[in-house]
Amino acid sequence: MTVSSAPGKVYLFGEHAVVYGEPAVPCAVERRAAVTVEARDDDRIRVEASDLSLDGFTVEYGGTADRRPDVDVPASLLDAATGYIDAAVEQARDAADAPDAGFDVTIESDIPLGAGLGSSAAVVVAGIDAATRELGVELEKTELADRAYRAEYEVQDGEASRADTFCSTMGGAVRIEGDDCRRIDTPNLPFVVGFDGGAGDTGELVAGVRALREEYGFAADTVENIGDIVRRGETLLSAADPGADPTEDLLTELGRLMNFDHGLLEALGVSSRTLDNMVWAAREAGAHGAKLTGAGGGGCIVALDDTRETETALRYTAECENAFRAELDREGVRVEE
Ligand code: PMV
Repeated sequence: MTVSSAPGKVYLFGEHAVVYGEPAVPCAVERRAAVTVEARDDDRIRVEASDLSLDGFTVEYGGTADRRPDVDVPASLLDAATGYIDAAVEQARDAADAPDAGFDVTIESDIPLGAGLGSSAAVVVAGIDAATRELGVELEKTELADRAYRAEYEVQDGEASRADTFCSTMGGAVRIEGDDCRRIDTPNLPFVVGFDGGAGDTGELVAGVRALREEYGFAADTVENIGDIVRRGETLLSAADPGADPTEDLLTELGRLMNFDHGLLEALGVSSRTLDNMVWAAREAGAHGAKLTGAGGGGCIVALDDTRETETALRYTAECENAFRAELDREGVRVEE
């Protein structure tokens, strides 16, 4: 039996603009999905997802058998869990040259689902890592990140960027520009996440920005301006002491850039009333800055605050279902003992 876990992520800056070749800086945070894998002596797959719905569910299937879970779960949830696990299993079988390998898989996750925190990427990364190790193969992290990207790409019909899977595999802050992904040094960034309990439709939101860009030249400028914010943020980060606690000045400057970024994302039509209300609650509680994270439309915001004030204020904000501190995770995927 092998257990691997991988972190979720927030975007410090750059979502949406990254679709048009601008850089983005996602950061792994200490909220993880753990996937337990045990090789079977047949080629079937049994998936148990204890935290992905209220009651959890178990489903066992072979190549063509239908997938009937033991409790009633929405088809979308079932498809999501089994789809990502199937794709992860296919990558592991391919990497280990074991096309008929079967597995018992258990998913446990404390990352809110589909809310811009990279929950599916974390499941795919941890799943491929655990399944390949179970077959006696240890992948280099770059290969793991690449296989996880291919798995997400397949499940999401080509609508996946490398950001989530690369960040979840490597941990820390990363820089994404097109297909170029690399880790960057940063101080310990004190993130706070607020979650409205909902989720936006990434495909629709990305299409909305595309339409706006086609209609208005200045929307294209807005996207480029987000790129400028990212570049400015990167300069600040590269001048800071890596691994240390950030100075108040750095937090102030980064927070201002996050606020600016949120304003531009709002202008591009990807925020929502609940996200805006959480952003304002965080700012009023004294956060250095706050913005939506991920595709938007609903889901999560990320704030920068080294006190407990923002988390508490968000908990008392009507639109916020859950708020938590989420320190930068520097480790990425790991095997759990
Ligand atoms: O909601 P998430 O975490 O999948 O982030 C989407 C980020 C976008 O830039 C909007 C789309 C993308 O593929 O980069």
